[in-house]
Order: sequence, then C-alpha cells, then structure tokens
Amino acid sequence: MELEKSKYEGIFIINQKGRRNLVTKNLTPGKSFFDEKLYKINNEEFREFNPTHSKLGAAIIKRISLIPIKQSDKILYLGASHGYTPSFVSDIVGKNGVVFCLDFAPRVVRDLLGICEERENMIPMLADAKKPETYKTRITEVDVIYQDIAQKNQVEILLKNLQFLKPKGYAMIAIKSRSIDVTRHPQRIYQEVEDKLKDKLKIIDKKELDPLQKAHCFFVCQKK
Ligand SMILES: C[S@@+](CC[C@H](N)C(=O)[O-])C[C@H]1O[C@@H](n2cnc3c(N)ncnc32)[C@H](O)[C@@H]1O
Repeated sequence: MELEKSKYEGIFIINQKGRRNLVTKNLTPGKSFFDEKLYKINNEEFREFNPTHSKLGAAIIKRISLIPIKQSDKILYLGASHGYTPSFVSDIVGKNGVVFCLDFAPRVVRDLLGICEERENMIPMLADAKKPETYKTRITEVDVIYQDIAQKNQVEILLKNLQFLKPKGYAMIAIKSRSIDVTRHPQRIYQEVEDKLKDKLKIIDKKELDPLQKAHCFFVCQKK
C-alpha cells in the first residue's frame, strides 16, 4: 500500500493492489462516521473519500484546477446535510481551522450534531442559507464558502452569502441543473449560472461532474 500526495492540499491517494482511492488524514483517529474505510500508514490514519458520495470528490476526480481549501482555513459550508463532505473538509483544514456547517433541515442537523461533538472544528448551524441576516452574528469572516444546495435560486443564495467571504476569498458551488429547470439543457443552465456569478466573482475553473454526479457542474471562483 502506497501513499501519494495529490495536487490538492490535504488530499492524498492510496494505491492498493492497482486501485487508487482518495483519502484525507483522519482528524479523529479510530473513528469513521459513514462506514468509510480507514487506512494506517506510517503511524498515521487516513479516511477513504468516495467521489460518488461527494461533489467535491467528483470535482477532484475530474481534475478541477484548484481546490482552494487549506490548513487552518475558516469555511462556511452551505448545505452540510449529514456531514459527509464537511467531515473531509474538516480533515483538510485541521484542528486550527473551522467549518461552519449550515443546513435548514432539522432531521439532517440532528445527525450532524453527533459528528460535530467528535470534531471540534465543525460547528453545526440550523439555519436557512436564504436568510444570512439570521446567522450573521454567529459566524466570522471566512476564507472559503462551499455551497451544495439543490435549490432553484442556488446562485442568488451564494451571492447573498458573499458578505461573509474575505476579499480575494474563494467560493465553490455545485450546481444541480435539474433543480434550476428540469426541462432545459444543462449546458445552457451552466452558462447562465456562469454569467450571473461573473458579476461578483472571477471564475477560476468549472467542471461537469457526470457521470459521478449526474447533471451537476462544479464552479471554483474568487471574490473580485
Ligand atoms: C445535496 S445535500 C448536501 C450534501 C453535502 N454537501 C455532502 O456532500 O455531504 C443538499 C442539502 O442542502 C440543504 N439545503 C437546501 N436548501 C437549503 C437552504 N436554503 N438553507 C440551508 N440548507 C439547505 C438540504 O437540507 C440538504 O441537506
């Protein structure tokens, strides 16, 4: 079993019997929260990151040019759900970073609470991303906003939350074309999304995530 660095900070590849799996260094050794496989290499533990369960993972497999998440970063994660991808973001930012994990569905936030109890850098927040005024006193300025919410007005929600992003900070957004309009061609929708984002953000890269994540496009942008 061999461990390789990837071009992205905090993301590694484990090569085992010809299979290459994405992994992150486990911030909570001995614990896995989603039945993900744990690997021990040189006294360190790594967690398998499944790109079919995560748009971030899929964007990595698609070789997006930049994943701007670094050690010690503060991240606002919109649409944290049960915490699968947020837990890997938590591994990347490490113990000196923070992931504000926001979701508006009480049922998933209940699951999230369990992980946040074990991982001190994950802060659970039950709130509606459409209403940043309801949580603006509970968060600080962040280095990166990551958004994965399947809503018709996904872009407008991200734009409303840019108030929390530091100058030159990064925004990552997974666009689900079917949530915007199921009848229209996904590429048309992605182009319209790009045009709207361009007003406030510089587009660094975008990748369609099919077939790992059907009818999704992932954008990495930087605040102007
Ligand atoms: C596709 S899931 C996110 C999966 C997660 N990002 C992951 O990779 O593990 C989308 C989540 O967005 C949440 N969501 C949708 N609209 C929202 C809103 N306006 N505010 C907060 N959360 C929202 C849903 O409750 C759902 O949990």
